[in-house]
Amino acid sequence: MDRDRLLRELSDFLRIPSVSTLPVHNDDCRAAAAWVAAELRRLGCREVELLGSETHPVVWGVGPDVPGAPTLLIYGHYDVQPPDPLAEWTTPPFEPAVRDGKLYARGAADDKGQVFCLLKAIESSPASRPPVNFRFLVEGEEEFGSKVLFDLLKREPHRTKADAVLVADMSYVAPGRPSVYTTLRGLCYAEITVRTAKSDLHSGEYGGAAPNAHEELCRLLGRLKGPEGRINIPGLYAAVRPPAKAELAAWKKLPFKERDFLKKRVQAKGLTGLKRYSVLERLWALPTFEIHGIVGGFTGEGAKTVIPAEATAKVSLRLVPDQKLQTVQKQLAAAVRRLAPKYVTATVRFLHGAEPAQIDVDQPAFRLLDRAFSEVVGRGTVPARAGGSIPVVPALSNGGAPVLLTGIGLPDDRLHAPDEKLDLQQLWDGIAVFRRFYELLGGARS
Ligand code: BES
Ligand code: MN
Ligand code: MN
Repeated sequence: MDRDRLLRELSDFLRIPSVSTLPVHNDDCRAAAAWVAAELRRLGCREVELLGSETHPVVWGVGPDVPGAPTLLIYGHYDVQPPDPLAEWTTPPFEPAVRDGKLYARGAADDKGQVFCLLKAIESSPASRPPVNFRFLVEGEEEFGSKVLFDLLKREPHRTKADAVLVADMSYVAPGRPSVYTTLRGLCYAEITVRTAKSDLHSGEYGGAAPNAHEELCRLLGRLKGPEGRINIPGLYAAVRPPAKAELAAWKKLPFKERDFLKKRVQAKGLTGLKRYSVLERLWALPTFEIHGIVGGFTGEGAKTVIPAEATAKVSLRLVPDQKLQTVQKQLAAAVRRLAPKYVTATVRFLHGAEPAQIDVDQPAFRLLDRAFSEVVGRGTVPARAGGSIPVVPALSNGGAPVLLTGIGLPDDRLHAPDEKLDLQQLWDGIAVFRRFYELLGGARS
């Protein structure tokens, strides 16, 4: 295949700033959906539709009919996370640039580059298209909880009917080590707002006797998670199951060094969290509580002596298998109520979320994927868990099909961060891997 052309086409896709959480980008999300739809038409899809929303539609496609061949549903997302802080990008996030064999842009790895890879693997098939009945669900709200897709699947569950579902929205577990994922964490995203007075007050006239919303919020947040990393939400850990001994033993064999993780990936001075658990257990098998940002009070230039009456923190918890989103929401709301002093009004508003996912990778389709990776990159897939979330994954397996969670990213792709990138060699390899996977799947006619 002509790599220059592929790079040009992927760059066109990456130039569209389809940030789903920011309404100013609604038209861009629509444009990215249209880009995907045009690709699907070029692949010969007989049915291509934009469904469920004017601004963040799900792109649905049905490939050419191949009687007797297995059905493969391809899932991905065309939306991306906000690009800020902009000043920390070497080149602008929506002006794709190649440096040292890597393509830098927001969405390069998460997930536009990977969606592109799955589609081009179909186009690139020698002679003819692989003998597979392709179905496509490419959504535009994955980074914001996938509401449009959930609503669509509730109305029309038949769209997930398939023999296998392929999701490439993940990375290799280490360079040269392709993976399939057995779990995803869930997510409970919320805003905690603290109100202490009717309005802001002069800090000289009232300071010393009036409550301060930021001070109360900080204390509340500090109480929600202790310095040693334990989350102080009653009942939160009740559903958390420790991984089986065999699984923990397998993790010890993965090419993962806590020291390298600190020095090369986190690039901080130390790691935090529950010290009696390994880092992989903390990342993959335990819930988290993170503060994403705090707003309110005076943050403008210069100085203003004011006691803020309101402060809001954006926070989230990651959930592990067997935890339930609704239960965790109730637990968080109850904990906030319990920890806030009587004179403070503390409210919790839930923005979006995802249930954790668990996947049985002991099904025939996984052996085909393993073989495709082995043949093309010389290494099969190693089972691992993931710390991130993909809200719709539990719903994709409702029809009983195995969900192959895999990907061509690398652990240092800097998803959601400045200078997100995709290694181009990973992309070229990936196109060959998935092409081979489609052929193998098609050969295993049902
Ligand atoms: N591709 C990621 C999920 C992911 C990241 C899986 C890293 C495994 C490792 C996905 O696009 C993502 O970022 N999901 C969000 C979902 C949320 C906003 C509902 C996430 O995990 O924060
Ligand atoms: Mn993604
Ligand atoms: Mn993401």
